[in-house]
Amino acid sequence: MKHLHITLAVLSIALFIYRFTLMMIASKKLDRKWLKISPHVIDTFLLIAGISLAVKLHLNPMEQMWLAEKILALFAYIFTGYYTLKLARNKPMQILGFLGAMGWVMLIVRLAMTREAMFFG
Ligand code: HEM
Repeated sequence: MKHLHITLAVLSIALFIYRFTLMMIASKKLDRKWLKISPHVIDTFLLIAGISLAVKLHLNPMEQMWLAEKILALFAYIFTGYYTLKLARNKPMQILGFLGAMGWVMLIVRLAMTREAMFFG
């Protein structure tokens, strides 16, 4: 389950960076159907795998603040990703959104490694 979780996380981040790159070079490939559907599927399973892992390891986000912070950071990453690819209307906004999303990724990876909350608790 842990390996599946990490694989899905790497896939999610790689796909986001790939789609951002395609958008920056105004590539038509961005319209491909699989690129529109797979991120939703992967992000959904990433969350499910994370929750399953937490349940299996008896980790409760109400007690483990790093886990609560990680779940919130995942939603922030998904939203900033959505902003970058859909809402941002010009290149500077898209680049800013991308940097924001990468900041959340850095927090998530740090939380995964240290299991210590940075902001909560
Ligand atoms: C982009 C998002 C995410 C990334 C990059 C990520 C990354 C990781 C990594 C690298 C590990 C292994 C840490 C280690 O064993 O040293 C891990 C473990 C774990 N993750 Fe995630 N994760 C993400 C999202 C989530 C979410 C949303 C949840 C909860 C719903 C979650 C729950 C867990 C749990 C419970 C573990 C096991 C911790 C332990 O072994 O004590 N993760 N994650």
